[in-house]
Amino acid sequence: MKKKVLLMGKSGSGKTSMRSIIFSNYIARDTRRLGATIEVEHASVRFLGNLVLNLWDCGGQHSFMENYFTSQRDHIFRNVEVLIYVFDVESREIDADMEYYQMCIDAIKQNSKDAKVFCLIHKMDLVHEDLRDRIFEDRVAQIQHRSSPIQTTCFRTSIWDETLYQAWSSIVYALIPNVRLLEAHLDKFCSAADADEIILFEKTTFLVISHVSKWATEDGTVSAAPLDSHRFEKISNIIKQFKISCMKAHAQFQAMEIRNGRVSVYLDMLTANTYLMMVVSDPDIQSRAALANIAAARRHFE
Ligand code: GTP
Repeated sequence: MKKKVLLMGKSGSGKTSMRSIIFSNYIARDTRRLGATIEVEHASVRFLGNLVLNLWDCGGQHSFMENYFTSQRDHIFRNVEVLIYVFDVESREIDADMEYYQMCIDAIKQNSKDAKVFCLIHKMDLVHEDLRDRIFEDRVAQIQHRSSPIQTTCFRTSIWDETLYQAWSSIVYALIPNVRLLEAHLDKFCSAADADEIILFEKTTFLVISHVSKWATEDGTVSAAPLDSHRFEKISNIIKQFKISCMKAHAQFQAMEIRNGRVSVYLDMLTANTYLMMVVSDPDIQSRAALANIAAARRHFE
């Protein structure tokens, strides 16, 4: 099952940087060495069993962009499942950026009218913290005005923090087939294992695929005590950095067990493409029992 994902935006907005961090084990610092993308770079990423993301990283220099909208229009914009449009928040040519975006949206409406559209207001680390909300809201309003009637989802992102993982986890979540069924199975497992929370990550990218919690309410929010609402993407970011450090030391990261007071956290492979994190606060559940539960679930989720 191949899904075409278009990654577009002006040159230097950060498209190849984010692709390299999420899919090719780059760390943020390494992206300073990236050159401009010439025309379109294709990357096929196997994601969860038979779902393959076909990423089209479209170089954003003016001459390439012009071609996408003219001679290559059908080729680029046909059969698109997802359009990810990256805006450089520091750009001084906001009107010109919006014009390009509008052309992209028009081409999408014409060639792939059911495509999902995500906009990333990127390089947010360069904006003073006090101004971030206002600038983000201003850009979102402009984007929505240009996108109508297509519904867009906007994120503020930076390669220097976990916001990148939050945005990309939401994007891939929208692409996973049967995700509700997967969640129902995870939910059952969470109560059978008497766990507090279970999080499922894709193995290579460490993007969050799904999570269930024993405190979850009907509307999907968590009713429990003060939990950090960004904990999942923070974990993705931390584990990915750790995995890259292990690779540099020619070691392979396999599993992890963390104890903090009464709470134990287990991170272990679930299937060939996924890792599972299980949080257990019941002191009566011993480490061996928790790991045996994950092993038992493995057969079910394969
Ligand atoms: P083209 O290939 O020409 O279309 O450009 P691109 O959109 O792929 O840009 P690229 O990923 O090459 O990034 C350009 C520069 O922006 C690099 O030096 C990155 O290090 C930098 N960059 C990318 N993301 C961020 C970010 O979130 N914050 C900051 N401060 N810099 C970033």
